Amino acid sequence: MSTLIGPHSDADAPIPEPRTTSALPTSRPPRPSNVTLKVTMALTGTVFALFVLVHMIGNLKVYTGADHFDAYAHWLRTLLEPLLPYEGALWIFRLVLLACLVAHIGASFMLIGRSHKAKGRFRRKGMSWKRLPATLMPYTGLVLFAFIVFHILDLTTGTKPAASDDFISTTEQQSYAYHNLVESLQRWPVALFYIVAMALLGLHLVHGLWSVVNDLGATGKRVRQVGAAIALLLAAAVSIGNITIPLAVLTGVVS
Ligand code: HEM
Repeated sequence: MSTLIGPHSDADAPIPEPRTTSALPTSRPPRPSNVTLKVTMALTGTVFALFVLVHMIGNLKVYTGADHFDAYAHWLRTLLEPLLPYEGALWIFRLVLLACLVAHIGASFMLIGRSHKAKGRFRRKGMSWKRLPATLMPYTGLVLFAFIVFHILDLTTGTKPAASDDFISTTEQQSYAYHNLVESLQRWPVALFYIVAMALLGLHLVHGLWSVVNDLGATGKRVRQVGAAIALLLAAAVSIGNITIPLAVLTGVVS
């Protein structure tokens, strides 16, 4: 430590050149900012959460029989006709969902990359059960992405081997959604994949919705408790509601 008095006091030391601002190390904030990426994930994730909730409610129509289910699938394609052409509204939904998917996955990759860089050698070690959904987010997300691709080939485009051999394409007059669903889920490996994917969807949703509660800035104890309860309830409803369908087909309740 230097002293102020004596032969080697600070007064003898050469006075350093003042550092100009241009000599300071510059590190520009990353673009887009982390906040922008988090908000993007929260907004697009909320759109997905609403979509899977509405889709699950529509899927439950399978319990009302083939005619009702196919009428619902037909109604989706003729929505807002004649203002929009056949499948016009459906195409708008598809494009919005696709844009959300690209933004959600893109933002998640950027945030994961940045967090790996920022943590360096000092990472959290070990696993806690409480943090399991959070830790698994990238993996549950990847399985869900694979599920969506498989699901569209299976029930929308009818592309084999994802689709069953008995897939019938929907026409402007008639939907075969019920027939295609039952034929597909009667294959037990496919039904099992649907069940596992829906369980992982529940895990992904519960942490995703909880993150939205945090990102919205909910700080009060009561508000956070209500937020956590809503996240858990929504995730469980979507997951369990959907899981009943492959189970019902496998057990012959829906045939
Ligand atoms: C057990 C769970 C599920 C069942 C039984 C199911 C059922 C169906 C059926 C029957 C269709 C075709 C509808 C039609 O032809 O009108 C469909 C389409 C679709 N589903 Fe699902 N679904 C499930 C889960 C999911 C999940 C979790 C997602 C998203 C993460 C999803 C996304 C989609 C998409 C994007 C389409 C294509 C809609 C289109 O462009 O025509 N589904 N689903």
